[in-house]
Amino acid sequence: MYTGILHTHKLVVTLFLIYYLVRTILLLSNKHEALDKLTKKLAIPDRIISALFLATGIYLAVFSGTSAAGSWLWVKLIAVFASIPLAVIGFKKKNKALALLSWLLIAYAYGISETKSPTMNKKAYFESLAGDVQVNTAEANMVPGQENYDIAAHGQALYAKNCQVCHGEDGKLGKSGAKDLAASQKTRDESRTLIEKGKNAMPGFAGYLSEDEIMAVNAYIHTKFIQGSDLQAPAAH
Ligand code: HEC
Repeated sequence: MYTGILHTHKLVVTLFLIYYLVRTILLLSNKHEALDKLTKKLAIPDRIISALFLATGIYLAVFSGTSAAGSWLWVKLIAVFASIPLAVIGFKKKNKALALLSWLLIAYAYGISETKSPTMNKKAYFESLAGDVQVNTAEANMVPGQENYDIAAHGQALYAKNCQVCHGEDGKLGKSGAKDLAASQKTRDESRTLIEKGKNAMPGFAGYLSEDEIMAVNAYIHTKFIQGSDLQAPAAH
């Protein structure tokens, strides 16, 4: 459900951004007649898209359930809601500055969503993922090869820091459309690729976690949750 709404939201927001960009360009280039014609023609689709935009957005905000949703989400909501009256007045009064400002605010909100950060700094989002989860920082910061390196402890601490907020301590929490790890049939290769690249509401950790860290957390989920998948997997190469 969450993932379906997420896809709908992305589609609707993209349509909305394109439509408002076209209208803004028409206004900026003084094509008032064409603008009025387009606005009139698409008045009903515009209403449907705007309503879907808000309804899916509110659903996602309420049900993401990650504590990390906090700060960036508020900035995004303020940008979106500030842009609405600006657009209404801007297009009504044919005020170029207001219409442009409104479009820029929506585009900024889109950038925040993609990076989950008001400053478009993805690292801040990853840093905030742990939320209220207790993390053993010394273990999370271990490096393979160091004295007393323990891959199990390393993986567990990394899981608490980066994954638990959505997947839960037992792998079953299912926040933001997360899948039950205990029911997963993924091979080690498949889950490693998924951790690197992400999918739907799950962020890709490549570039934030090192290869060693991804290996440790992947090993952890396979010993702890993803039972037996390695036995069914085609021979490792
Ligand atoms: C913001 C929430 C979120 C975080 C944080 C997160 N995940 Fe996920 N995870 C998801 C979602 C959503 C899916 C389902 C993706 C899809 O639609 O297939 C998923 C799916 C998975 C799957 C695949 C399960 C299957 O069989 O399809 C694995 C494995 C996994 N996550 C591991 C991790 C690990 C390891 C971490 C931490 C490094 C992590 N996740 C962090 C949300 C999250």
